[in-house]
Amino acid sequence: MRWLRFALCLLSAVDIVLIYYVEAVDRSNFKTCQQSSFCRRCRGVQPGKSSYELHLNTLKIEPSSIEVEMINTQNGARFRFQLFALQDETFRMKINEWAPLKPRYEVQYALQGEPVLNKLTVIEKTAEFISVMAGANKVTVHAIPFRVDLFSGDQLVISVNARGLMKFEHIRPKPEQNEAGEKIEDEGGPHIDDTLSDPGAWEENFKSHHDSKPNGPTAVALDFSFNGAHYAYGIPEHADSFALKSTKNIDPYRLYNLDVFEYELNNGMSLYGSVPVLIAHGNTHTAGIFWLNAAETWVDILGTADQNVVSSIVNFVSGSATPPQVDTHFMSESGIIDTFFMLGPKPKDVFRQYTRLTGTTPLPQYFALAHHQCRWNYNDQDDVRNVDNKMDEYDIPNDVMWLDIEHTDSKRYFTWDPVKFSQPTEMINNLTAKGRKLVTIVDPHIKRDSNYFLHNDAENNDYYVKTKDGKVFEGWCWPGSSSYLDLLNPEIRSYLSSQYLLQNYHGSTLDLYIWNDMNEPSVFNGPEITMHKDSLHYGGWEHRDIHNIYGLLNTVSTYEGLLQRSDGKLRPFILTRSHYAGSQRYASVWTGDNTAEWGHLQITIPMCLSLSVAGISFCGADVGGFFKNPDSELFSRWYQAAAFQPFFRTHSHIDTKRREPWLFDEPTLLLIREAIRTRYSFLPLWYTLFFEHEQDGAPVMRPLWVEYPSEVATFALDDEYLLGDRLLVHPVTQPGVSDVSVYFPGTQDIWYDINTYRKVQGGGTVKIAVTMSKIPVFQRGGTIIPKKERIRRSSALTHNDPYTLIVALDRNGSASGTLYMDDGQSFDYREKKYLYLSLEFKGNKLSSRYIDTARYPTRSWLERVVILGLPPGITRAQAESKSAGRVTLETTYNTETQSLIVRKPAVSMAEEWTIVLQ
Ligand SMILES: *[C@@H]1O[C@H](CO)[C@@H](O)[C@H](O)[C@H]1NC(C)=O
Ligand SMILES: *[C@@H]1O[C@H](CO)[C@@H](O)[C@H](O)[C@H]1NC(C)=O
Repeated sequence: MRWLRFALCLLSAVDIVLIYYVEAVDRSNFKTCQQSSFCRRCRGVQPGKSSYELHLNTLKIEPSSIEVEMINTQNGARFRFQLFALQDETFRMKINEWAPLKPRYEVQYALQGEPVLNKLTVIEKTAEFISVMAGANKVTVHAIPFRVDLFSGDQLVISVNARGLMKFEHIRPKPEQNEAGEKIEDEGGPHIDDTLSDPGAWEENFKSHHDSKPNGPTAVALDFSFNGAHYAYGIPEHADSFALKSTKNIDPYRLYNLDVFEYELNNGMSLYGSVPVLIAHGNTHTAGIFWLNAAETWVDILGTADQNVVSSIVNFVSGSATPPQVDTHFMSESGIIDTFFMLGPKPKDVFRQYTRLTGTTPLPQYFALAHHQCRWNYNDQDDVRNVDNKMDEYDIPNDVMWLDIEHTDSKRYFTWDPVKFSQPTEMINNLTAKGRKLVTIVDPHIKRDSNYFLHNDAENNDYYVKTKDGKVFEGWCWPGSSSYLDLLNPEIRSYLSSQYLLQNYHGSTLDLYIWNDMNEPSVFNGPEITMHKDSLHYGGWEHRDIHNIYGLLNTVSTYEGLLQRSDGKLRPFILTRSHYAGSQRYASVWTGDNTAEWGHLQITIPMCLSLSVAGISFCGADVGGFFKNPDSELFSRWYQAAAFQPFFRTHSHIDTKRREPWLFDEPTLLLIREAIRTRYSFLPLWYTLFFEHEQDGAPVMRPLWVEYPSEVATFALDDEYLLGDRLLVHPVTQPGVSDVSVYFPGTQDIWYDINTYRKVQGGGTVKIAVTMSKIPVFQRGGTIIPKKERIRRSSALTHNDPYTLIVALDRNGSASGTLYMDDGQSFDYREKKYLYLSLEFKGNKLSSRYIDTARYPTRSWLERVVILGLPPGITRAQAESKSAGRVTLETTYNTETQSLIVRKPAVSMAEEWTIVLQ
């Protein structure tokens, strides 16, 4: 975030003028692959010359795994190769040094637990290879050169080291230097690989920063080929297209959590988070890999979205070319090779397989899915009160007010500015009275200030990350000189957790939730605006080894704190900027400091889709753009788009103009209000989708190919997506347009415009007219969507409100759906205190049935049913439920839209019921 402003204080007036005109990211702050010595070395490996071999005579077979010794024939280094069969068509492969000079870091906290093993059977074993079976999968491990082929049924899905790009730099003693400073190789060692000749092998400089690299070169790299895959997706976070691009003539995609000021679009530069999960999809098969490594990582992609491949896909589909393939190459600076293979075969299988490893997002509180109002900064409690009141005055629903860093007493987190926020509890309670919440920011840098209890505790207990020399690490961040809690240490995490308890966080209440920002961590004066890689953590690990999980550990602490604060009763809500695999269990994620430009609005879709397929469904982007000022058109369109994205928060930089909706002209205000109200009307759907996500791991916001896996036209779409299997969303993300071209999938499917109820046949692209008030969203025929159409100040106030059901019929005149409800805030739903309903329309009969034995005593009833795509002829309807008996209902049929409205069925949603059309 926003370090420029801070940097300005340090510079002369001349410098300020220069910096002021820097419009976008300063690329010189960030390394290219060439500037990163391990990336250079790994990328320099020539294909087809793998020097790694397995000694199959050392094979050990266990019930769920095999283990073999591996050797690098170039230098004699020995490794342990292990393959584990896991439940649900998943495999794990680990390669580590046989006897490393020092232990190598193995990532913790990303997995939700020890993966569940499956039984493995050896089906063939020769001197050259061994084949094993587990579930429906066969894996063949070839010895010379080393290669692993993973099959789903008969189909080869993934090949490991097929291109021979493996590199595993074993830890070695630092070569001694002679008086002239030249390295002396130890005589017996056959060091004929290029590792040691790299000038960056034992130390490395970047700009004014020095990396002492006490362990020397420790990189690991491996290639994975995906047979039959048209595209690869995932490995967020990048501001790039959803389908990953070929990196043939450009830098690889980089995964190294960084605070990138004014990031640019359409490139593979690192951003705030790293999720080393890649999903490869083709029209017959989906598979994925999870590269469990927390060090800086680069990923090369070949043969995907560049022009040649697109034409080869077209040929392939028409049956005239070789099958498509995506080749990938993962390169990490340290750690071990630890890779999970999710073998599908369908997209939803891969999401389930992956989230069985790292978990799903627990059902958020209902408010978290509603609208959030944020700014850097709401200046004081009067400002908060005014904005809050204006929301009501202008009939704009809002659930959460947010406070950025300026609310604290001099950037000391867990404190309040004594003048501007003198009555925090009363301020929160005023919000709570309307069903609203407050979120405050808590960043992980700690102000070095002897008047700050947190700093004193950290100093007294030795809680800070250390430099390579064992001194407390100091860097610059918002408060000025700062140090950073060593969150790798469980004791320090629980200390941080305890700060969230009500008795410790003075002025807070159970209605205050948390925003963890700057947790890459951001260090303004550090290399690439982060911590030095040779800094030291708990257990003696270098920052290099664990960098990409620092933000994850930050949210683990926060989550535990919020959980303890309510004795485990209330579901925590956290927003984080930095993230890793597994972050979805603790926090929602936003795409960081974007800009008020149309391109940034457009990129929100591929960015959130990339996070979603990598397990992080609760994603959003700053509405309106963080930097710069959006004009009315961009601002309205952004609200309209974000109203259909999972996390919905408006936010802006301190130097931007105030942008609360009523500060715009009346038409803009009305458009924004309507977009937010539309979001509220769909909250029952959002809540149901997130409940289902917690069960099955399928993304809430999902690419079309998840539902239409063989429809090649859906594979590279960046401007539309599905919500569950029910809504197709294609927001307007261009200025001045009067129509948008929407691709409607499914040749057998019918889509209904949610505003006009107009039908569109699936299987092609259709131009849809868009006035300024139009959000192009379509309900799939065959689905039922629950809504609440009474709009109130906050979602909490709608808790007992009645439901409307939109029943959109398929070609056969049928539809089905689900509806989930509970108390909206507690963990009671884990004790079966919820209601999960199956809604079905068939043969002119709509019914609601309990899916399971859980019950929640809702007071909501059914207010309205709208049936879309119904032929004329119905004149009345009859509802039947246990407590109300049979009741005849009024209906209205609209011939033009072929829709029927059934008014006030008035059945209780707590009961099973039936409505018959006659
Ligand atoms: C709380 O609301 C009351 C009534 O509107 C108001 O007088 C008071 O100033 C508010 N307190 C804070 C801290 O905003
Ligand atoms: C309609 O019914 C036919 C026959 O039962 C079935 O094969 C088809 O999948 C159904 N179509 C839709 C869109 O559900």
